[in-house]
Amino acid sequence: MPEKRISMAYHRQLNAVPVIPAALESPTGFVADMLARPLQELRISLTDRCNFRCVYCMPEESFGKDRVFLPQTSLLTFEEITRIARIFVTHGVQKIRLTGGEPLLRKHIENLIEMLAQLKTPDGRDLELTLTTNGSLLAQKAQSLKNAGLNRVTVSLDSLDDAIFKRMNGVDFPVSDVLHGLEAAHAAGIGPIKVNMVVKEGMNDQEIVPMARHFKGSPFILRFIEYMDVGGSINWKMDEVVPSSEVVRRIAAHMPLEAINSSLTGETAERWRYQDGSGEIGVISSVTQAFCRDCVRARLSTVGVLYTCLFAASGHDLRALMRSGKTDQEISAAVAHLWRLRADRYSELRSATIKDIDRTARKIEMSYIGG
Ligand code: GTP
Ligand code: 5AD
Ligand code: SF4
Ligand code: SF4
Repeated sequence: MPEKRISMAYHRQLNAVPVIPAALESPTGFVADMLARPLQELRISLTDRCNFRCVYCMPEESFGKDRVFLPQTSLLTFEEITRIARIFVTHGVQKIRLTGGEPLLRKHIENLIEMLAQLKTPDGRDLELTLTTNGSLLAQKAQSLKNAGLNRVTVSLDSLDDAIFKRMNGVDFPVSDVLHGLEAAHAAGIGPIKVNMVVKEGMNDQEIVPMARHFKGSPFILRFIEYMDVGGSINWKMDEVVPSSEVVRRIAAHMPLEAINSSLTGETAERWRYQDGSGEIGVISSVTQAFCRDCVRARLSTVGVLYTCLFAASGHDLRALMRSGKTDQEISAAVAHLWRLRADRYSELRSATIKDIDRTARKIEMSYIGG
């Protein structure tokens, strides 16, 4: 279905080239948006491709063989990514997450990690450098990622049952290979390692308790994610969302839990610990309890478009600034200006008026902008 493809013309039309402010201020290590939210995290999508076809993200019906992916030449180079990251760090970014698509499909990703690992915050600290992966290539890459300077990793895993997992990932990928990837990451000294499970009613909700039991007391922190409406390719329905409150209720019925009061701002997950002291779980409630109020995340797409919200309909073309010869100071001033104007709070608005928001308004896929 052509309208479901990412059309380059569409992006050119929507993504404005940012204005360079007349007065070029110097970065101060802090910039706040209209809702007083600082800029602290940059999520960078390294590729729009993925070797999985998860039902809730890139379903085969829309991402089949005729799907057009971005040409290699349009991707930001590692030098360009590092240049943008360096600019964001001067404005207060302390954490960089590499996403996709599947980021481990990007060739020579270790070289990029080495470059990013050298960046320092304005007060001389190392950045937190992490990535989100489906785990399929982790067993073979864990050690080289660690050697390159990756601190942490988050692995998606939606079920321990092979039949359910294969149905959800759409490509018959077995659970055991992801579990080997997790073990390899742990053995390589990457940590903390998180496991993200998207819960879809009627598909894998029966796996909530087995997943909790499996990872309880392990080195891996399991998080349950509410199934979100991420665009036109998935036929999202509210009644397929399992609210986090229900996830906690089901687990606590077998393994008592207590809430952890976390003081970290910008955290997506609400944390719960097992009362017997054997670790914690997290629940991410983007649908039933939006966390926009603390959202400190900027997103850079594979082609260098900056999005100030996961659900933004349009972005800001930083690649155009770089490729037209703008200086770091000019780009930096443009980024600060953009962030100050940011007022996004899509999930909050959506939960307030769930029926009123026009679903068709959002066309940009999560695999393009980065989860
Ligand atoms: P930590 O660094 O471990 O705190 O990771 P994180 O929770 O910030 O990032 P991760 O990529 O693990 O996010 C988990 C899931 O939360 C994503 O895959 C999304 O489903 C959801 N999520 C993350 N960031 C946002 C966001 O800004 N808005 C919304 N609506 N959902 C988000
Ligand atoms: N709902 C919630 N999270 C999603 N992701 C992708 N699609 C969705 C969706 N529809 C997130 C998951 C996955 C990561 C790569 O992207 O957390 O683990
Ligand atoms: Fe690929 Fe992750 Fe999307 Fe699944 S959720 S299709 S693994 S990018
Ligand atoms: Fe941030 Fe937008 Fe997600 Fe709200 S919906 S948490 S503003 S990315």
